[in-house]
Amino acid sequence: MFGKKKTNPSIDKEQLELLENAQKRIKQKKALYVHFIFFLIGSVLLIVANTVLGIGKEFTLFGKEWFLIAILVWLFFLIYHVFNVFVTNRFLGKAWEQKQMAKLVSKQQTRIEKIKSKLIKEETLLAESELQSEANENIEIKKTGLTIIVAASENNAIGKGNKLIWHLSDDLKRFKALTNGHHIIMGRKTFESFPKPLPNRTHVVITRQSDYKAPKGVIIVNSLTDALDASRSDSQPFVIGGGEIYKQALPLADTLELTRVHENFDADTFFPIVDENIWKETANTFHQKDDKHDYEFSFITYTKQ
Ligand SMILES: NC(=O)c1ccc[n+]([C@@H]2O[C@H](COP(=O)([O-])OP(=O)(O)OC[C@H]3O[C@@H](n4cnc5c(N)ncnc54)[C@H](OP(=O)(O)O)[C@@H]3O)[C@@H](O)[C@H]2O)c1
Repeated sequence: MFGKKKTNPSIDKEQLELLENAQKRIKQKKALYVHFIFFLIGSVLLIVANTVLGIGKEFTLFGKEWFLIAILVWLFFLIYHVFNVFVTNRFLGKAWEQKQMAKLVSKQQTRIEKIKSKLIKEETLLAESELQSEANENIEIKKTGLTIIVAASENNAIGKGNKLIWHLSDDLKRFKALTNGHHIIMGRKTFESFPKPLPNRTHVVITRQSDYKAPKGVIIVNSLTDALDASRSDSQPFVIGGGEIYKQALPLADTLELTRVHENFDADTFFPIVDENIWKETANTFHQKDDKHDYEFSFITYTKQ
């Protein structure tokens, strides 16, 4: 039941073909050799028949003895036979050579197809990696400095009745120091909450209104994308509020300067919850309550992970 299986010796189809052709070739050469021997013996017999036995002694062709003509004719056939074996049927014959050539061509074509598809694959991979690195570059560009600056209470309140809820002079000083000389991007409502534009900053105001009028020097745009475009010359533009704009800008920013006011407040405008899976705290400075500051607060810097 578990005895060894008999294996039939299998010969490759091409090997079999070669073998058959070699046998055919040997036969052809043998036939030529036999022909040659017959020619030699035949020629001697013809000479003997004519010269010794005197057969057809008087018979001549073109002035020559008939056996000479017969030998010449036979010689012609022998030469034709030699030509056929060694020239017309070179090696294993023309048909065999043509078949081999066709096989070779088809093998080469398969190889070419393989190389072509490999090249296409490589080109696709190259294009994909180029696109990826371009995308990475774009991410890098976006990563170069869009900063959100905000003061939010423990319950993320940032404003009420289009006004700030608290007055923290050190927070305002820090805001001024950080944003000095930069583009400050804001929503129309935040802009309107200022008595006048802040000095030494480029104001970029976002509104859906097409005919919004603002003092000279204030840039008016109709989307956050346009605001970022308008701030392109700045290596660190700031988004300064309010609630609507913070929400839209948070996914695009890479730094968050948060003043956390350690109280809860009633408000109508809020900052989104800071997702600590996305934002990593890199600095934290606590500020006590004092004569100028009604609440405790902390300056916290986050960077996107
Ligand atoms: N605590 C802080 O750090 C801080 C900082 C800044 C502001 N705030 C407070 O936040 C409050 C204001 O915030 P808010 O959310 O009410 O208003 P906002 O974000 O300042 O401005 C909203 C306005 O921006 C425009 N806008 C928004 N998204 C837009 C878009 N995708 N395309 C075009 N225009 C767009 C619209 O203007 P139009 O209506 O003209 O189309 C919209 O009404 C105030 O209470 C302010 O005091 C607090």
